[in-house]
Amino acid sequence: MNPSSSSFLFLLVIFLVYSISASAIPVIGDNDVDEGFDPSKKLEGDKDNNNEFTLKVPTLELDDLPLDDLLSFNYYHKRCPDFEAIINRKVHEWINKDYTLAPSLLRLHFHDCFGRGCDASILLNHEGSERTAAASKTLRGFEVIDDIKAELENKCPKTVSCTDILSATTRDATVALGGPYWSLPYGRKDSRISIAKDADELVPMGHENVTSLLEFFQSKGLNVLDLVVLSGAHTIGRTSCESIQYRLYNYKGTGKPDSSIDAKYLNFLQRKCRWGSDYVDLDATTPRKFDNMYYKNLEKKMGLLSTDQLLYSDPRTSPIVGALADTPSVFKSQFGVSMARLADVQILSGKGEGEIRTNCNYVNSY
Ligand code: HEM
Repeated sequence: MNPSSSSFLFLLVIFLVYSISASAIPVIGDNDVDEGFDPSKKLEGDKDNNNEFTLKVPTLELDDLPLDDLLSFNYYHKRCPDFEAIINRKVHEWINKDYTLAPSLLRLHFHDCFGRGCDASILLNHEGSERTAAASKTLRGFEVIDDIKAELENKCPKTVSCTDILSATTRDATVALGGPYWSLPYGRKDSRISIAKDADELVPMGHENVTSLLEFFQSKGLNVLDLVVLSGAHTIGRTSCESIQYRLYNYKGTGKPDSSIDAKYLNFLQRKCRWGSDYVDLDATTPRKFDNMYYKNLEKKMGLLSTDQLLYSDPRTSPIVGALADTPSVFKSQFGVSMARLADVQILSGKGEGEIRTNCNYVNSY
């Protein structure tokens, strides 16, 4: 090796050693670069100066930010911490006195969401409101919502919407009868508008065919699975005989009963429903239990509403009926999923949309 090549090799080694040691210096953030890195300096969070690095991650507290138009599962976490506990306690108090309120609340929620979206418009109590429509004639449970709202206004004034109260109350009432739990994103606002025509035109009443039911559901962004699963709500509750008498004596003007009703069941219904004002259970087998018996009944021609029984005979819906009749756990879990989808129909949550009513019966006057 000649002297010039050995000095070149020496310089190359020096250069490599320098570059490697320079790249080994840790980069710890823009602020530190200016001061230069001092390994003897204590790092934040490094109590014992044992050269362990801790990374400080900034936390984002959603509740502290002015994001009123965003829905969230913990929307009331800071705004009204007892919100769900109060609802749960009240629901149990009411249902222990009268369990029939549980199905009535479930139906009230359904009618609210199908009217003009889940916006508590069904609760507004003025002339010509949804509540006064023919479709709302047998709705019940308003007093439960009023009672809960009064307590919440007391604890957290002008904070909790009637829409959120109705959905959470319905969920807890369903759970109380053995149904599933589902999480709800809160922060939805209440409507200032409620028109009877909406209820009469947009809520199916039991005389429709399956195509029409599918159209009703599709217009709300719900699908065929939602239709069959949510109809399973008829595993609890009852109907006024007025709604089904036409099936018992003069179906579609034939002068005869609907042939899709099991003969024994027909006989039972004819005896039970002498007056239009009488009531009969939607699920003849286990009327107080939230289970999948509704679907098993359909397989035995024991669907009470014609819209229920048709779900079993229509090829678009019958496979789903069969599956839900066979697997109770699938019905329960999917019911929760479809209820959460229902609670999201045409909601008011954007800037300037709706209000938080202080009384669920009336729009705010200020
Ligand atoms: C698929 C379309 C539906 C039709 C055609 C329909 C129709 C009806 C009718 C006619 C009644 C009896 C009303 C009366 O005469 O008092 C009723 C009751 C009931 N509906 Fe539906 N319904 C449908 C969907 C739903 C949905 C999606 C739910 C809830 C998720 C629901 C929950 C109930 C409950 C729980 C009752 C019993 C109410 C009580 O006992 O007070 N229904 N439904």
